[in-house]
Amino acid sequence: MKSVKDTLLQRRSIRRYEREPISDEQMRLIYDTIRNTPTSYNGQQFSVIDVTDADTKIKLYELTGQKQIKTCSHFMLFLADYNKISILAEAKGIDVPEFTDTADGLIVGVVDASLAMMSALTMAVSLGLGACCIGYARTAAPQAISELMRLPQGVFAVCGLAIGVPRELPDLKPKQPQSLLIHHDAYRQDDMTEELMAYDTDVTRYNATRSGSKSDNDWCGHIVSYYREAMGYEMLAALRERGFDIKK
Ligand SMILES: Cc1cc2nc3c(=O)[nH]c(=O)nc-3n(C[C@H](O)[C@H](O)[C@H](O)COP(=O)(O)O)c2cc1C
Repeated sequence: MKSVKDTLLQRRSIRRYEREPISDEQMRLIYDTIRNTPTSYNGQQFSVIDVTDADTKIKLYELTGQKQIKTCSHFMLFLADYNKISILAEAKGIDVPEFTDTADGLIVGVVDASLAMMSALTMAVSLGLGACCIGYARTAAPQAISELMRLPQGVFAVCGLAIGVPRELPDLKPKQPQSLLIHHDAYRQDDMTEELMAYDTDVTRYNATRSGSKSDNDWCGHIVSYYREAMGYEMLAALRERGFDIKK
């Protein structure tokens, strides 16, 4: 098992996998890690669907266009989940307020599911496995994926995680320097433009020279183009379908 330092500092997204399966012991460790995720109020407002069935993975690939889902060994879908607490509250005769209809209710579920995904990813990487988060599992076809995964009301797909035995080792991507990411005692008040420009140049250079597919993408323009694409997502409607009718 890798050290925590290597696990976290050498981590990179892995999108190509060997056909080898992941052992039961490794999956048990990943499941146990997911179970021990810190969650808001210990409410555990999340669930995970571990998809290994080849046909289901192909359907998910067709819905998202993300090849990793088809080729990985385990595709895990991380869900914000208020279904379980509702079942128990009803059985115990406890009235549940419409927390799912609030922005904070959504955030709580999304944070819990995201932390669980990062826990799973970290354990997988420490075991020498490769992993890649798949946000398109949320955005590409929310209704079709909810139906395929048979999600009940109060359950919303936040993000996917493809895990497999790595078949590539891409170069580590340049990340923002500490000075841009870590603010001390309060948010920085000085002008960050120059440091941001320098980082943009780093990313442009990385994209032009990295091993594998190269591009002339910068950082800022490329990320903003993702935002433009995302402006077309109908996430509010997708959330409403799942029983999250955000009102406040
Ligand atoms: C929430 C989230 C969603 C992501 N969705 C996708 C995705 O749908 N497809 C993909 O190929 N990579 C996806 N990624 C991987 C990112 O592209 C990757 O983390 C980023 O480029 C940084 O590279 P690194 O992970 O190698 O450091 C996602 C990552 C996160 C955290």
